Amino acid sequence: MSTNKESWGSRVGLVLAMAGNAVGLGNFLRFPVQAIQNGGGAFIIPYLVCFLLMGIPLLLVEWSMGRYGGKFGHHSTPFIVDAMDKRPFWKYIGVFGIFTNLAVAAYYCYLESWTLAYIWHSLTGTFHGMGSSEVASFFGQYVDVSSSTTGIPYEAVIFWLLCLALNTYFLSRGLQGGVEKVAKVAMPLLILFGIFLVIQAISIKAGQNGAINNGTAGLNFLWTPDFSSIWSPKVWLAAAGQIFFTLSVGMGSIQCYASYLKAKDDIALNAMSAGWMNEFVEVVLGSSILIPIAVGYLGIDTVVEMTKNGGLGLGFRTLPYLFEQWGPTLAALSGMFWFGLLFFAGITSSLAMGTPFVGFLQDEFNWNRERAAWLFGLVILLMGAPTVFFFEYGVFDEYDFWAGTFSLVVFAFAEIVLFAWVFGMEKGWAEINSGADIKIPYVYKYIIKYITPLLLGAVFFSSLPNVWNQITNKTIYEQIAVAKAANDVQKLSFLEDSILFVNGSRILLLLTYLGVALLVAIAYRKRMQKNTLL
Ligand code: PHE
Repeated sequence: MSTNKESWGSRVGLVLAMAGNAVGLGNFLRFPVQAIQNGGGAFIIPYLVCFLLMGIPLLLVEWSMGRYGGKFGHHSTPFIVDAMDKRPFWKYIGVFGIFTNLAVAAYYCYLESWTLAYIWHSLTGTFHGMGSSEVASFFGQYVDVSSSTTGIPYEAVIFWLLCLALNTYFLSRGLQGGVEKVAKVAMPLLILFGIFLVIQAISIKAGQNGAINNGTAGLNFLWTPDFSSIWSPKVWLAAAGQIFFTLSVGMGSIQCYASYLKAKDDIALNAMSAGWMNEFVEVVLGSSILIPIAVGYLGIDTVVEMTKNGGLGLGFRTLPYLFEQWGPTLAALSGMFWFGLLFFAGITSSLAMGTPFVGFLQDEFNWNRERAAWLFGLVILLMGAPTVFFFEYGVFDEYDFWAGTFSLVVFAFAEIVLFAWVFGMEKGWAEINSGADIKIPYVYKYIIKYITPLLLGAVFFSSLPNVWNQITNKTIYEQIAVAKAANDVQKLSFLEDSILFVNGSRILLLLTYLGVALLVAIAYRKRMQKNTLL
């Protein structure tokens, strides 16, 4: 039986850890880019609708699934779902809740490590005196790992290893000693840094320090509603995808954190506090830094153009240069705050991604926390290596598509069907409300039962064409056709290598899923033999 008897130290710690789980790089880097790519004001309405009709229901469902599984000593989704329905099929769907966390952590930790490097470069004045294109190409050189032009050879690898070591260390310190402590320091600082940057961003005046617009130009672009988007499936898919990613639903990490609650603890108010805190950070802070500053200096058209290829890097390619316009002291300070805020957002999320795997090894194989955390670090090192070394070939984006987008929808769809239709909505609603410190509007019982599954089904089916394009490497083949027509031999061989690396990374992801499924099967057999399955 499991020796995993950990629990949360305090309610504040739990809510901050859960908010830290949700508040991540997605809030500051992914949200603005999604909003820009999908037409600014056109994005916001679908986004808010998805939050109310899919985000909140999934939060309630995942929190209650977690607390329910925790009563039986389960801390990872394969066995949490097994406690809800005994058909073996569910356990293997539950594998998503470990797999997705591993696969997202694999590329996420690399992204997180860029923030450490950029804190360093902001403080040491690397960007001082650089032109805007130099700052932008600094990023290109940085992710081209072997180039030494950024200063330190293999710099990206060094910061990545440092970041992995930090994550592993905090994970090994346990829930109260690691995760909760980090959240209690990181979350308040993140909000403070964020407020400082928002004030800076919205007080930009056109004509000062090279700004062409006021800081409010970007905000207007984002917040002037545009109802024309209501009929665009592309915008809806992007909005739903952003809601999943930012709330960390469909991942398995919320269930894991919630499984460390006590049976009588509240989930309704806790889930709402963490969820709304995430929305505050995303919609208020996340939208008021990168967009207003970038639009203020570069104008909407340039910013839209910049997000067309590789959006996540926008905050790295533009902001250090724009901060420089504020003079050396403010530039260093703002750089430290911006990348520091990103690092805090990142680490509190990546720790959440590590916890399901660690909990699983503790529960099922009696491993101690330290050993499990180090194995997590090793797995992330191995899985993350292709995203680091073959970044330019599209491996990073490939992980983001399968793990960070597609898997979330599949698992969210499966779990809501399990919760509302197999476990049963009557029992489910009672679970959500047991110990509740607030009253969840009754209408949510029907939303969870009918609307959320329908919407999730719709999102799933309408994303299938994208999935097909991804599988058949459509974009790469299109680029190959262009390169062939232009007789660009170099580009052609690069694109052919990309196909190789991208296909390889898919196989790696598939093997990871199968590997976790095998571990689950072994764990299940062990439990059957000992008869300890409740
Ligand atoms: N929600 C996090 C973000 O916005 C990402 C995340 C994914 C966190 C999976 C935990 C688990 O960046």
